[in-house]
Amino acid sequence: MESLYDVFRRRGYNRRDFLKSVLLLTASLGLPPTAFARTVRVLELKPKPVVIWLEFQDCAGCSESFIRSTSILPSDVLLDYISLEYHETLMSPSGFYAEEAKKEAMERYKGEYILIIEGSVTPKDKGIYCTVSGKSNVELLKEAAKDAKLVIAVGSCASWGGIPHAEPNPTGAIPVSQVLEGKQVVNIPGCPPIGDVIVALIMGLVITGKAPELDSFGRPKTFYGQTIHDRCYRRPFYNAGKFASSFDDESAKRGYCLYKLGCKGPITRNACATVRWNGGLSFPIQSGHPCFGCSEPDFWDRGFIYSPLSVVEGEFSWKTALAGLAVGTAIGTASALINRKLQEGK
Ligand code: SF4
Ligand code: F3S
Repeated sequence: MESLYDVFRRRGYNRRDFLKSVLLLTASLGLPPTAFARTVRVLELKPKPVVIWLEFQDCAGCSESFIRSTSILPSDVLLDYISLEYHETLMSPSGFYAEEAKKEAMERYKGEYILIIEGSVTPKDKGIYCTVSGKSNVELLKEAAKDAKLVIAVGSCASWGGIPHAEPNPTGAIPVSQVLEGKQVVNIPGCPPIGDVIVALIMGLVITGKAPELDSFGRPKTFYGQTIHDRCYRRPFYNAGKFASSFDDESAKRGYCLYKLGCKGPITRNACATVRWNGGLSFPIQSGHPCFGCSEPDFWDRGFIYSPLSVVEGEFSWKTALAGLAVGTAIGTASALINRKLQEGK
């Protein structure tokens, strides 16, 4: 079978490109410099990792992010190196032939394949809100997870329920881990997660042969161990109390901290401030937009995304705000009425 290096050469990349990618991979996985030579050898010899990727209640944004990964492996090499046996958006067969391909892959690579789930799961009303080939998503998940070497929940929907789980959650969306209780699930949250992080974790599994170290929420510590705020380049402004107060004033142009514009960086664990997006080019805060905490559970229900954390943490919700507005209007109307009566001498 072809090695990763062979795939690089066949795609027109040279040895320098290959070594650069391996170096980025080991660095992003937090492996010591001494692991570099061993990783090169492993990637030259190890067979392709087999991946089965199922989509449930999703928008396919995580798949988009995955195929646009650039800094660790060029995407054309990536799709050639990983044996992606089933992926509804990317594969060419459909219907009966696609389902047969999945069944065959699950049998042939029993206990060896990596199962990736994108999207939330819905057991409500016997799963009728998400079915593929006549089977409910819960049934498909349990069937595919049974013989998987590792299950990865990719994106905030698969990790926490995500946007489908937001109030009023009409389909009863839940995370993958809730269906697969007792089985280890690696959560890679984000809306979407960084493509390079997904790739690094798959390749990390190939190199080490085991799941990465996880936090109590099932997230790999290497990429979710710190908050955006911990590594944000605008942090010196935060520490100095310099905040942008609107998107186009002088303070915003000077690059001041976006806390008052609703930045949720202080409570959001993700690698955006270090790995960044689009080949390390930028991330939301660098583009002038506050982080709205897309990788955290229930981020969509946490109040208005442009409300500062001090407001959100203080139990801000639209219900409370509207109730306050109604009470305020009633008091205002009553006091105006009383004033008028007083002026009329009644
Ligand atoms: Fe923290 Fe956000 Fe300010 Fe960056 S922009 S320092 S993450 S509050
Ligand atoms: Fe999401 Fe915040 Fe990163 S909104 S993409 S976790 S900077």
